[in-house]
Amino acid sequence: MSIIFDKNTQCFHLSNSRISYIIRLAAGKYPLHLYWGRRVRTISEDMMVRRSPWTEDRFSLNETAMDYLPQECPTFGSDLRQGMIHVIHENGMHALILEYESHRVMEGKPQLAGLPSARGEGAESLLLTLRDKVSGVAVELCYTIYEDVDIIARSVRVINGGKTPIVLDRVLSACVDFERSDFNLITLSGAWTRERQLYTRPLVPGDQGTSSARGASSVQTSPFMALLSPNATETSGEVYGFALCYSGGFEASVHVDQHFLARAQIGIQPFNFSWTLEPGEGFQAPEAYLCYSANGLGGMSRNFHAHIQNHITTGKFAHSERPILINNWEATYFNFDEEKLLKLARVARRAGIDLFVLDDGWFGHRDDANSSLGDWFDDTRKLPGGLAGLSDKIHKLGMKFGLWIEPEMISVDSELYKAHPDWCIHVPGYPRLEYRDQLVLDLSRQEIRDYVVEVIVAALRRGNVDYVKWDMNRFINMWGSPALPASRQQEQPHRHILGVYDIMRRIIAQFPNVLFESCAGGGGRFDLGMMCYMPQAWCSDDTDAWMRCRIQHSTSLVFPPSTIGAHVSAVPNHQTGRTAPLSTRAAVAMAGTYGYELDLTKLPRKEIEEIRVLNKRLHEIQPILLYGTYYRLLSPYEGNEAAWISVTGDKREAVATHVYAQAFPNMRDKLLRLTGLNPDLTYRDTDSGRTYGGDELMYHGIPLKKPWGDYMSQQFHLIAID
Ligand code: GLA
Repeated sequence: MSIIFDKNTQCFHLSNSRISYIIRLAAGKYPLHLYWGRRVRTISEDMMVRRSPWTEDRFSLNETAMDYLPQECPTFGSDLRQGMIHVIHENGMHALILEYESHRVMEGKPQLAGLPSARGEGAESLLLTLRDKVSGVAVELCYTIYEDVDIIARSVRVINGGKTPIVLDRVLSACVDFERSDFNLITLSGAWTRERQLYTRPLVPGDQGTSSARGASSVQTSPFMALLSPNATETSGEVYGFALCYSGGFEASVHVDQHFLARAQIGIQPFNFSWTLEPGEGFQAPEAYLCYSANGLGGMSRNFHAHIQNHITTGKFAHSERPILINNWEATYFNFDEEKLLKLARVARRAGIDLFVLDDGWFGHRDDANSSLGDWFDDTRKLPGGLAGLSDKIHKLGMKFGLWIEPEMISVDSELYKAHPDWCIHVPGYPRLEYRDQLVLDLSRQEIRDYVVEVIVAALRRGNVDYVKWDMNRFINMWGSPALPASRQQEQPHRHILGVYDIMRRIIAQFPNVLFESCAGGGGRFDLGMMCYMPQAWCSDDTDAWMRCRIQHSTSLVFPPSTIGAHVSAVPNHQTGRTAPLSTRAAVAMAGTYGYELDLTKLPRKEIEEIRVLNKRLHEIQPILLYGTYYRLLSPYEGNEAAWISVTGDKREAVATHVYAQAFPNMRDKLLRLTGLNPDLTYRDTDSGRTYGGDELMYHGIPLKKPWGDYMSQQFHLIAID
């Protein structure tokens, strides 16, 4: 891995043994995007493709150049297309022309002030400083290349080096100009209980992409997109992935211009954003990850997975086994008392479950979703000994104790709201529309953040908790903060997210032994920003096994199984009314951080015994499932089957799972071809005792039983015997 500046060609070449990213300083000053893809030794000057059909002069900023040059950091002033940065000067006028000023190469990578960001083990970074000569505004572009993953991390900092204030109207984190546009675009869109569904379409001239203006990455969209070459598949072909390390509103877009060239950009959503910089002040934009794969979508995913596991997730649990949990939400909803919870916990313990999680409804007087958020005080009607009493009893059963919280919210029916009716995000005169019967605390304000940190830390200490489910159930429909002057109101969406990160950082730092899981009305904040604080996230409130095959399949485009919260729930399923066998519900949930979410006290003894056996098996195979190399084998978006496999780094062990949606009459026997094994090894299937060659399993396949009934699954645990 290296970053080299060649003075002769004026090129910065970032490379590892597999990929190259090349920037050229045209005319010694304009940073142009030359190349990103499979590793090359160099790009010769003649290969600098001339984009303009009109001009011989490729490097000067004349009127044609503005429309054609592939720029690293396009701005309005030097480019006619939508750029990365848009500045309004004190006189209200708009222009910015950036020229090279200096550069620096450093080991590792800088951490971003106030924002989550990846670590820089085994990485090198290029810091390229550009400046607008007229206004003095400087832009620092940071590029990091890693040895172990084919990811370029990019971020942007804008500094007002002038003498008068400026307003940033748009600051995206990355832009890549491609020499072509014959790509298919993949984005993830959905809804509550239908998160991150996979959508693919060819690029067309004009604008396309995905975005969120909801104040969070959201269940409707995801801060990710991928561009696939026309022949790219799951296993082959070139794929360019883009993901943003941010949990607020975002934009991921592609513009195809008049000459069918594509410009891909990702960053903070410009709608509802502006930021005033006084002279000397700087603005840091979030980090974006650019992933190149020559091995199809699967190659992209394995790079994102390794990046997340090696450089993003932190803390004691990032690389260790996760406890098997029972969560009382779908077992009791709000209708519980201590006795009911303990009864559930006792059965769970007998079934070999490690952790009892008390979900919503333990505080204030919350018997429904319409009260008490903000009042993080024990409801002694339900818990006579408070959290401390319950936690103590759970611990005495030999289980760990976990707790649900939703720190960012406030209910109108709460003591907190009575004391501080102005603490919610609101605009005077406009109705405070409740969404899931709640409002959002204005976390751009320090005193509100301090209150939240204090009461949440106290609750977690009181409950002596081992695990926390940090929920967030409301998106933001209007912005207004009395703490900001009129000219800075548009800063609130980003200031709020910085506030969310601030309280997370402060609370989590006090509990190094606690496992934190993020959640947002299901999987509404399943993003890389959250992953920097909490190593796992609740994937969806949809626990239906077949629907989960779909959601987890597309979530795995970016996220590894170790980050995907997945539970076995009751049948008929509470979201779809479907009935899948316990073995299938378990096999699907095992592709994530595993748990249960149903009333075990209602299950027959036989099923509790089945659960005990499943849990024992999971403890044996969980390291493979969570941290093995993950391959998608069959897509539930394409037919009646889903399949995936996780293989250990040394390829000596693997767990493969196959699910049939529906059974049809007169089905024939089938083979499932596996991936990622060593063809020269012989593997034993631990259940059947049969042995197979790795080559046989990969090139011929493993036999599948014909389904008898809908939603049947098979799981194979394979161990090399030679
Ligand atoms: C959200 C979560 C659920 C549950 C409820 C509690 O919807 O996604 O898992 O915790 O809140 O109100």
